[in-house]
Amino acid sequence: MPSPGQLQEPTDHSSADALLQMITGFWTSQAVLVAAKLGIADLLKDGPKPCAELARSAGVRPQALYRLLRALASVGVFREEEEGCFGLTPLGARLQTGVPGSLRAFTLFQEYQYRAWEAVLHSLRTEETTFDKVQGQPLFPYLAAHPAVAAVFNEGMTNLTAQVAAAVVAAYDFAQFGTLVDVGGGAGILLTRILKANPALRGVLFDVPHVAENAKSRMAEAGLSDRCAIAAGDFFQAVPPRGDAYLLKWIIHDWDDERAITILKHCHSAMTERGKLLVIEAVLPPGNAPFFHKWLDLTMLVVTGGRERTEGEYRALYEAAGFRLTRIIPTASEMSVIEGVRA
Ligand SMILES: C[S@@+](CC[C@H](N)C(=O)[O-])C[C@H]1O[C@@H](n2cnc3c(N)ncnc32)[C@H](O)[C@@H]1O
Repeated sequence: MPSPGQLQEPTDHSSADALLQMITGFWTSQAVLVAAKLGIADLLKDGPKPCAELARSAGVRPQALYRLLRALASVGVFREEEEGCFGLTPLGARLQTGVPGSLRAFTLFQEYQYRAWEAVLHSLRTEETTFDKVQGQPLFPYLAAHPAVAAVFNEGMTNLTAQVAAAVVAAYDFAQFGTLVDVGGGAGILLTRILKANPALRGVLFDVPHVAENAKSRMAEAGLSDRCAIAAGDFFQAVPPRGDAYLLKWIIHDWDDERAITILKHCHSAMTERGKLLVIEAVLPPGNAPFFHKWLDLTMLVVTGGRERTEGEYRALYEAAGFRLTRIIPTASEMSVIEGVRA
């Protein structure tokens, strides 16, 4: 028997096919990105259209666009209905702007993550991020200085958080609290969903000034301005005081242990006596099974300098910040609610 590392004259090509798909994965990713940039899915919202018409609207060459859409149709993103005419599929529909379940903004942000990933070898050698090398600044200061990119990032986060919000709301009893502080709450999609499902609960959304400002109008649109305060600041300095629970979704994974512990310590000193800490993250499972956050972990390595963590790593973080991890509540998504109280 040959060992797995020994190649025999191949008779079964499935391992080559599987590897080739991975090797060329960025072809697909870039094709989806450019289709999203051109707004092709939005142009198709009322039904299939000839490629020539799509090309005119998008300002590109019809033959080249045909080749792009034919390739994307081969992986189910669009569908060629009759010769030269393309329509939406369930996958393509998610590239529309602002529809429920949209992933368009998150797709557009891949332009920035892609550039950081290109330099991943630097992170392997140094454990430093690459985003700042490529863009000249770390991610969050870069977003503060580039409002158009920040709008894409915030909407991209909203895209992804919207996918898991119902699962989080269903998994945890938020009605036990008077006031819930969402630390780094972004545009407020999760807090909005939690407040809507728990009518007696009051919220505080906390984020950096430009993000908090944007959340204000979102809360007003959701009719929640009277139950949700918006606070701006820096969680490395302090977080809003007197919350009964502090929720941090996709915050701790952005940072290395030292910075994550600083944020958690600020929550510790801000919360009411019986306050709870609710970190919402994906807890990395042991073993080789596919898990989206194993890949997001590498994106954290290159983009923010953070990491995804195992249960043991979360326990250690909690302990270092003065918390006791009480429960890990799984949700119907990869996210879990990692509950803690003061030790
Ligand atoms: C990965 S996003 C997560 C957003 C949201 N919690 C979600 O899951 O959709 C990280 C958030 O942390 C915020 N943030 C980054 N640095 C911060 C700081 N120093 N103080 C407060 N918020 C900060 C960002 O503006 C952003 O909204």
